[in-house]
Amino acid sequence: MPTEKKPEYSPGLAGVIAGETAICWVDPAAGLMYRGYDIHDMAQKASFEEVAYLLLNGELPNGKQLVEFTQQIAAERALPGAVIEMLRLLPSKTHPMDMLRTGVSMLSAFDKDLSDNSHDANIRKSIRLIARVSTLITDGWRISHGEQALPEKTDLTQAGNFFYKLEGKVPQDWQIRMLDTIFNLYADHEFNASTFAARVTSAVATLKGPLHGGANEESMKMLEEIGTPDRAESWLMKKLGTKEKIMGFGHRVYKEGDSRVPVMREIARDLGKRTGKENWVPICEKLEEVMDREKHLCANVDLYAAPVFWMLGFPPELNTPLFAASRVAGWCAHVTEQHDHNRLIRPRSLYVGHELRPYPDSSARGG
Ligand code: COA
Repeated sequence: MPTEKKPEYSPGLAGVIAGETAICWVDPAAGLMYRGYDIHDMAQKASFEEVAYLLLNGELPNGKQLVEFTQQIAAERALPGAVIEMLRLLPSKTHPMDMLRTGVSMLSAFDKDLSDNSHDANIRKSIRLIARVSTLITDGWRISHGEQALPEKTDLTQAGNFFYKLEGKVPQDWQIRMLDTIFNLYADHEFNASTFAARVTSAVATLKGPLHGGANEESMKMLEEIGTPDRAESWLMKKLGTKEKIMGFGHRVYKEGDSRVPVMREIARDLGKRTGKENWVPICEKLEEVMDREKHLCANVDLYAAPVFWMLGFPPELNTPLFAASRVAGWCAHVTEQHDHNRLIRPRSLYVGHELRPYPDSSARGG
């Protein structure tokens, strides 16, 4: 006879409190806060380094601390030669997220603090990871397209250097500002699937999934398929008719709207004017209108991130890696917090198999 009463079960751990955090709060009624600061106050003003410092250290940096932190990250960007060699060995069709996962895993072998999980060592490792995740993406992309990785430009910030390392051109100030804002919006989101995985094991592979980070790559495919605003409603009604999931819509926590959407929508509008590609925002808006009418579902940040990355000149396969280049700050802050108050994460599952039954001898099993 079972000795345990059936416990409560919540599929996908929805609504389950899996731990405490002081890093980030996602208010279901649309607020997103990092360490108590509204993301809207920081999105367009702070550099990504400022937000990463806040997430990791708990308080905003003063001027001197920000300069030092920015320099520390810049100084850690270069990859060990063996990691570059490994990137060259991967098949050229390898998805950038798989390159990133393999690269991060290999980097750990070169990290002298690997086995030290003290707070200070975790901060040192975080700085290296924040720096090198970007380099893995940009160098991996160039190498898989038959080009050489470029040397670092340590006078550029993470956002500026990302453009430079990918395209070989120093970006304009407005492009750097825009990517900083995007990185700031993506930098953390409390116990999202990849961060929860990071607190337990590995985040990059989790982020790749289409229901999580991969949604911003899938959203671009959808928008390209739709093509023009007048096709949006019929396209969507057809997909809903066959019960397909629409990328860039819905969220486990936000039910009244994703607080990052208005900022990302404005960036998309701005970029549309700058690049003359003003069809994406009206398509997204039409999709928003019909999804609200038909399913009462709101857009999430990935809907608008897709055309934003596209108009900034990034290929869609880099959408999720770009997300990772930012979310790495949140992952690191959470892993550090987890280690600071560590208790083994060991959940239970709900058993749905056979009742207890007698073990038959092999002779009783036929055959
Ligand atoms: N398109 C169509 N229907 C959707 C939907 C979407 N994007 N998101 C949710 N729904 C529907 C579900 O089919 C379900 O309907 P039902 O009750 O008739 O079965 C209902 O809304 C509840 O959705 P559920 O899948 O239980 O929500 P969840 O909390 O498990 O999932 C997501 C959250 C994010 C995984 C889900 O909304 C999704 O797959 N979105 C698309 C991927 C995406 O954009 N991800 C990025 C998140 S930031």
